[in-house]
Amino acid sequence: RNKTMAVRSMLDEMVGVGDAVLLEPLSEDNFLDNLQKRFQHDEIYTYIGNVVVSTNPYKTLPIYDAEMIEKYRGRNLYELPPHIYAVSDLAYRSMKNYGRDQCIMITGESGSGKTEASKLVMKYVAAMSSRSTEVETIKQQLLQSNPVLEAFGNARTNRNDNSSRFGKYMDIEFDFKGDPVGGLITNYLLEKSRVVRHGEGERNFHIFYQILCGASPTMLKKLKLENVENFSYIKQLDANPEDAKSFNEVLNAFDIIGFSRSEVDNVLMLVAAVLKLGNIRFKAISAKNGMDNCTITNMEEHPEVADICEMLSIKPHNLTSALTERTMTARKESVTCTLSANEASYNRDALCKEIYDRLFTWLVNRINSSIKVTTQTNKKCKVMGVLDIYGFEVFEQNGFEQFMINYCNEKLQQIFVELTLREEQEEYVKEGIEWLHIDYFNNAIICQLIESPRSGILSMLDEECLRPGDVTDATLLTKLETVCGKHEHFESRRDTRFLGDKTLPHNAFRIQHYAGKVTYVVENFIDKNNNSLFRNLSTAAFLSLHPLLGGAKGLFPEGDPLTTMLKRPPTSATQFKASMTALMKNLLMKNPNYIRCIKPNEVKRSSVFSSDLVRHQVRYLGLMENVRVRRAGYAFRQKYEDCITRYKMLSTKTWPSWHGPPKEGVKQILLKTKIDPEQYEYGKSKIFIRNPRTLFKLEEYRNAALHDIATTIQKTWRGYHHWKLFQIMRQAQIVISKTVKRHQNQQRYLKLKSATIVMQCFIRGWKSTFRLRNFYSGIRSTQSTFSLRNFYSGISQSTFSLRNFYSGIRSTQSTFSLRNFYSGIRSARCLLRAYKLHKLQCISVSIIAAHWKGYTTRREYRKFFRANAGKVIAKFMEKYVVYLYLTKTRDSLPSSSPIDKKWSSCKYQFLSSTHPILRDLFHKWRCMKYRKGLTPQRKTELSEKLHASNLFKGKKSLYPSSLVQKFVGDHVTLSSNQKWRKVGGGAIIIFADEGFKIHRNNGKFVSCYIVMTDNAVLLLEEKSLKQKCRVAVHDISGVSFSPYQDGMMILHCKPPAESKKHKGDLILNVAHSIELATKMSLLVEKSTNQKLSCIIEQNFMVDLKCKSPMSLQFNEPSARVVGGPTVKKNKHMFIVGLPVNGVSPSG
Ligand SMILES: Nc1ncnc2c1ncn2[C@@H]1O[C@H](COP(=O)(O)OP(=O)(O)OP(=O)(O)O)[C@@H](O)[C@H]1O
Ligand SMILES: [Mg+2]
Repeated sequence: RNKTMAVRSMLDEMVGVGDAVLLEPLSEDNFLDNLQKRFQHDEIYTYIGNVVVSTNPYKTLPIYDAEMIEKYRGRNLYELPPHIYAVSDLAYRSMKNYGRDQCIMITGESGSGKTEASKLVMKYVAAMSSRSTEVETIKQQLLQSNPVLEAFGNARTNRNDNSSRFGKYMDIEFDFKGDPVGGLITNYLLEKSRVVRHGEGERNFHIFYQILCGASPTMLKKLKLENVENFSYIKQLDANPEDAKSFNEVLNAFDIIGFSRSEVDNVLMLVAAVLKLGNIRFKAISAKNGMDNCTITNMEEHPEVADICEMLSIKPHNLTSALTERTMTARKESVTCTLSANEASYNRDALCKEIYDRLFTWLVNRINSSIKVTTQTNKKCKVMGVLDIYGFEVFEQNGFEQFMINYCNEKLQQIFVELTLREEQEEYVKEGIEWLHIDYFNNAIICQLIESPRSGILSMLDEECLRPGDVTDATLLTKLETVCGKHEHFESRRDTRFLGDKTLPHNAFRIQHYAGKVTYVVENFIDKNNNSLFRNLSTAAFLSLHPLLGGAKGLFPEGDPLTTMLKRPPTSATQFKASMTALMKNLLMKNPNYIRCIKPNEVKRSSVFSSDLVRHQVRYLGLMENVRVRRAGYAFRQKYEDCITRYKMLSTKTWPSWHGPPKEGVKQILLKTKIDPEQYEYGKSKIFIRNPRTLFKLEEYRNAALHDIATTIQKTWRGYHHWKLFQIMRQAQIVISKTVKRHQNQQRYLKLKSATIVMQCFIRGWKSTFRLRNFYSGIRSTQSTFSLRNFYSGISQSTFSLRNFYSGIRSTQSTFSLRNFYSGIRSARCLLRAYKLHKLQCISVSIIAAHWKGYTTRREYRKFFRANAGKVIAKFMEKYVVYLYLTKTRDSLPSSSPIDKKWSSCKYQFLSSTHPILRDLFHKWRCMKYRKGLTPQRKTELSEKLHASNLFKGKKSLYPSSLVQKFVGDHVTLSSNQKWRKVGGGAIIIFADEGFKIHRNNGKFVSCYIVMTDNAVLLLEEKSLKQKCRVAVHDISGVSFSPYQDGMMILHCKPPAESKKHKGDLILNVAHSIELATKMSLLVEKSTNQKLSCIIEQNFMVDLKCKSPMSLQFNEPSARVVGGPTVKKNKHMFIVGLPVNGVSPSG
């Protein structure tokens, strides 16, 4: 509660103002100063209402980590300093809580940070959703689409090192819980001309360099790129080590998205083929008929054409004729003519551009098929679209592409104007709210100039392309001048107003865009708009057997030679216009969120703020108009119904439900909150809140009220829960007390009863005593004394006889019963004996009967079988048992992993020798399968590991730790080092690592690169790569190691074959000594056919060309040696001290 009630605001510790709406006084200069001040304090985000203006910092700021994401989670826009996460959170919550589809439009010029912003939005949204395995997979697939599309669609331009050369719109779909369930990417207008040509200082698409730097030698061989020196489409020097890293990221991304291995191979094959196609040259030859002909120049000397045909699975004849000839069909007749060398080159470039462009679209579709929504709930999906599209472009010379890009920006500005400015004003009028009209520039008029169906530039372009007769770029310009010449935003040299304007060339027209004037040179407009590839090329591609390129489902379905093309393919302008219309329709259906990116300088520096450049962007993005409308208007509006639903808990009259008119309900709520009535206005159907902070206050009240409601609910529930518990306890208590009371009363009753009996007995005894006393007194009378004596004697006699009688009876009875008992036992024993006998008889009868039955059956069967039937049956039984054994063994076979030691037991003794043989056979079979499944690269790796095991296993204690390490070979990526290329002389690097050479005079460690090439071992200086020492492979006589866990290695050398001075052995220290020795042993064996001697001892001789013979002794590892090994030299020996904790490359 304390957290939510704390009054936080973006106004706290604000640099300049966080929301430009708060600027005082409002002017363009003030706006720029504010942006600059914030930029210099690394505050790159500034609001205009809920629009974020983002200034590219050109440096990594610590404001995007997980902690920051948590900080902005669920917070109101004005609660924390402006951030892209705040807008992302607003959009995400609006989608999740109110179910409104969102779109985030990121605009700005090239290099202003649109793509980075889009990635930040995706990162935030991904962090918001749950972390179940399924959601995590989808999130990863969505995020990993970025590296793939950036590799194929981004390139270095003079304005941005990672410029997106295509437009991208990505719909991310969410389920009702707000978890992403899939997505859909739409791409717009890839700058395909870059494939064949790019400006000075720029690069081609990243993927070309990534393949050349990052692909393994095997892959390069497969792509037939390993021995190619130069490519005419790219400069290899432009590549950098980052490309190799990025390539691995791209391969990883392919894997995560779900591309199969063969799909990736096919894609890379097409990219490599495009590179190689670019190297084809044409030479003019004169044909007999006097026509200009051409042929491929390097066909004989270079296998380029054959390579390309193999890579694209095209017949060589099909490719060469498609490149050098053109077939025209008219009225079912076709004529083939040959092309000049220039035309053929143009043809080749067209093919390359088209293959790459279509491959890119294929990639987008393939990613879409992986990320598309598959769950049943797709109807309930909510969508968040992220639009990252090229910004407004003005170059020295602007062509067809710039025209399209700027048209797209006009449309986006149109949406912005539509939604933010026009709708804002219209809504106030509609709602009957007093409103000061703000003038703004509506760029609809420019959109009309470009896209109007009858007189727009695009329709003129299409008309000209479809017109029969002589159509050129010049005729197009004439047509444009005639139709659009009078438009106030169209300028051309024909117009009298611009006759003397030398800045406007004769072959160009100029449009006054909302962002400024741009001059377009009409060169190639017709060609680029036609967008048609010569039929020969599309047919050659169609006939390819390459899985992506050829066939009806391939990249060139229109090339099918069996179908005749009646309809022309839609022009580029038509296609682009249609995709723009679809995009605009899509965006208009969603709730817009804006990120307006600004580029602070042209030099990509973090501290430079070029006011003129920013002023230009502020103007064409219409930011000042945006601020003005925000200031004059109301920051927030909401339908009365929605407002009641959200804030009904703030008044007792509206809580829990309000049945009156919604407007009255909202009035009740606002009255209760006691917010200043100046701060809001009642519209017809909506409440308008002037200041964002009022809304924030309302949210604060709501959070507090929700807290109270939660407390009430908790209170009530706890009360009920405890009442229930009390009822149960009360019932239990009643039962217990009832039982206890009953028990106590029973006890009391029993006591009373026994007391009563005692009293009764006592009273009766007393009474009888009384009577007896009377009786005795009577007896004592004379008359009765005699008879009484007789009586008593009679009694005693009779008592005696009675006792005798009873004892007689008792003894007679017991004798009798004893006898009965014994006779009973006897008869029971008899019965038991008889029963046992009977049972024995039964068993023996059944045995005899079985024997008898067996005997009679055997006799019966003997009639049917031959004399050797017994043997047959026995054999059959044996086979049957073997069959059972084999099937059981088959069903219980262990896994096909060679290291699986499991093997079932055998219960048949006669097969006990077969069982292990079968196990060995099976093991050999699965080993053979495993071996066959190994790639050649893996085989090499394993054979190296095997060799290392032969050399070191059980001998050197460093060996076990080397088992898990991969034998990388080039640990310092020396082969991609530019200097090495110069000094290496083309030698192939087998091993390279940082290490030390131990100085033979003083035992000091001198750091160097230890490099092994295919013919020598080299020690190079680390920075300059200067060669310090070279030992030819033929001169290596052996290597020696200590048995301990250290990287020390002695390289024994023979006197060199050439007459150079013999420098003796080398003492080296290298972290990957096992790998180096293994690779060296293999190399020596290969080149000299002799095994390399490998000594592993504690003490051995070294030849260091000293005065006296020297030995080298390794001391036991000791805790006294810290850091790494030490070498001390005395007169006759080197003593190596080793630390306890093993290898360390440092001296
Ligand atoms: N928020 C940021 N933090 C740090 N660096 C950034 C940020 N935004 C952009 N950059 C830097 O600016 C460079 C250009 O940004 P980005 O590629 O996003 O521009 P863009 O607007 O997409 O340009 P284009 O239209 O050419 O594609 C990035 O490579 C990055 O170095
Ligand atoms: Mg970009």
